[in-house]
Amino acid sequence: MKTMLVTGGAGFIGSNFIHYVLETKPEVELLVNLDLLTYAGDLENLRSVESDPRYRFARGDIRDRKAVEELFDRYEFDTVVHFAAETHVDRSIVEPEVFLTTNVVGTQTLLDAAKAHWKTEPDNKYSREYKPGVRYLQVSTDEVYGALGRTGKFRETTPLAPNSPYSASKAGADFVVRAYRETYGMPVNVTRCSNNYGPYQFPEKLIPLMIHNALEDRPLPVYGDGMQVRDWLYVRDHCAAIWTVLEKGAPGEIYNVGGNNERANLEIVRLILRELGKPESLIEHVADRPGHDRRYAIDNTKITTELGWRPAYTFKDGIAQTIRWYLENREWTERIVSGAYRSYYERMYGRSAG
Ligand code: NAD
Ligand code: TYD
Repeated sequence: MKTMLVTGGAGFIGSNFIHYVLETKPEVELLVNLDLLTYAGDLENLRSVESDPRYRFARGDIRDRKAVEELFDRYEFDTVVHFAAETHVDRSIVEPEVFLTTNVVGTQTLLDAAKAHWKTEPDNKYSREYKPGVRYLQVSTDEVYGALGRTGKFRETTPLAPNSPYSASKAGADFVVRAYRETYGMPVNVTRCSNNYGPYQFPEKLIPLMIHNALEDRPLPVYGDGMQVRDWLYVRDHCAAIWTVLEKGAPGEIYNVGGNNERANLEIVRLILRELGKPESLIEHVADRPGHDRRYAIDNTKITTELGWRPAYTFKDGIAQTIRWYLENREWTERIVSGAYRSYYERMYGRSAG
């Protein structure tokens, strides 16, 4: 892993991954971040590494075949970590099309470029030989499995049953990756992680949105009864899991990533209010999300037993650190909520973002 292409590195998990790699993996000689800078991408997240000689930023669209191929021509990538995506379920309900083009077609474009540059006999459709040491990692989500009832957990063998346009587009991308493995023998992996939390998460997602609203003494919009369950993982643990799969994962394998940390949304919201010294009267139950998945939970047996990955952060420490980060970096959120995000918030919740 000397020359790495990271897509979507200006977003939440991608920027955390770039910090993680540049801080802890000296063997990576060059890391190129390809990002379109949609509403969710913010170079502010990478300010502290922008002059690092091991880091380069390339603005571009993963659906732009020519731009992607030029990047592969310019750099001899041996590793691709594909984060770039449209990621917010609520937006996918309103505007599904961009989810399908970015998440499915964008993935195929990247796979094509990697295949063309990595195959030892590029013109031979029957050849399944690739340069040594190359690897493509698809960052996917547990949402592709659909929703669980009160019991059970998602295993890698659980049939895919996505319920939102977002999760359907991620499942579609996973199937394309699978097909490139089966048909062309590409050295790929897929990771399916549960909900992440931590610094640099766009404040349309549950935890940063609730922290921001609580700090401003504004209502905290809880969908439906608030008893939907998510399995939360600190973002740095997700980054370490991705690295572990790159290093030790068997080609073609899928790995679920999660920290056995199930929490109901209301529990998270109450915890945030408690930590910030704000009253529970700020909680406002609003109309439920259509097709809202009731419960997600990851069975992490495969990655823990086969690859030896384990989460390093307890939820108590991770959430305390996260709340502290948003408190110490209020101008980061302020800048976002004062921009184009305002009109989204107004459409979504019928009032201003503050
Ligand atoms: P994010 O929305 O914060 O960031 C997405 C990034 O992708 C942004 O920087 C955006 O500019 C970029 N992007 C979007 N469309 C692009 C395009 N066409 N070309 C190039 N760049 C483009 O997302 P995130 O929360 O950091 O998620 C990253 C990945 O991890 C996604 O693939 C997501 O499905 C997956 N994932 C997220 C979570 C989570 O809890 N956030 C959990 C599991 C998996
Ligand atoms: P979100 O952060 O959007 O992640 P995902 O939908 O991908 O799991 O939402 C997490 C949970 O919080 C989900 O059950 C929906 C709920 N939620 C609210 O109750 N209110 C909100 O304003 C938001 C954004 C989410």
